[in-house]
Amino acid sequence: MTLLEVQGLDVHHGQLHAVRDFSLAVDAGQTVAVIGANGAGKSTLMRAIAGSHSPTRGSITINGADVTRMPAHQRMRAGICLVPEGRRLFKSLTVEENLDTGAYRAAAGPWNVDAVMELFPWMRERANQNSASLSGGQQQAVAIGRALIGNPKILLIDELSLGLAPAVVKQMYALLPDIVASGTAVLVVEQDVSQALAAADTVHCLLEGRDVLSGKPADLSRARIEQAYFGLTSASGQTVGKGH
Ligand SMILES: Nc1ncnc2c1ncn2[C@@H]1O[C@H](COP(=O)(O)OP(=O)(O)O)[C@@H](O)[C@H]1O
Ligand SMILES: [Mg+2]
Repeated sequence: MTLLEVQGLDVHHGQLHAVRDFSLAVDAGQTVAVIGANGAGKSTLMRAIAGSHSPTRGSITINGADVTRMPAHQRMRAGICLVPEGRRLFKSLTVEENLDTGAYRAAAGPWNVDAVMELFPWMRERANQNSASLSGGQQQAVAIGRALIGNPKILLIDELSLGLAPAVVKQMYALLPDIVASGTAVLVVEQDVSQALAAADTVHCLLEGRDVLSGKPADLSRARIEQAYFGLTSASGQTVGKGH
């Protein structure tokens, strides 16, 4: 059954039409990626799904229940939790205190501070360390842990790998299967196309707010993805994503 269904979503910033007629479905047990260049509308889409920015048209359902008009804090209760771009930890709080903030309004489920520290074993030693002193990768791990503690049905991660060293990115992606196996589906936004293709069951390519290419990674050629990502014109003169 479809866990998260987004249908015909339009999202504006004032006059700017940032997301256009966007649809996506995530089933339980799946990892879905949204890729696209800077400014494509990825964060706007994630914020609209998480409830921090109201769409102008379209619908969002979770397990068939319409959450389109539900405020963000209720959407967390409904099972949608966002790790925002740039992590946004409470810098004056310790690692453990940051994790604890995720327990507020948490649903019942397998994730708690202990389970997160099992997923990221280094956190136990640094539980009382100020989160501002952590590396970028460690901060991303705390942000993911904090979101997991809410026991979401689906975890939204905006720019999982941005600003992280390649080895750290690899470690992060290596943990996604554990998260999915715990019963939490993942919707990840990426600028790192290779990582997204390796990790996702389905990928959507966003260009200027439109879904210009989507499918299973194995069915999409690298050339088509690059065209969709950059909005390039192919050798045959066809422009991808511009509706020509
Ligand atoms: N708060 C905002 N107010 C006005 N315009 C915004 C705001 N946030 C994003 N935008 C614009 O919306 C478009 C999509 O931005 P964004 O969703 O952040 O893209 P991405 O995450 O793919 O880089 C861009 O043109 C950006 O300048
Ligand atoms: Mg963004």
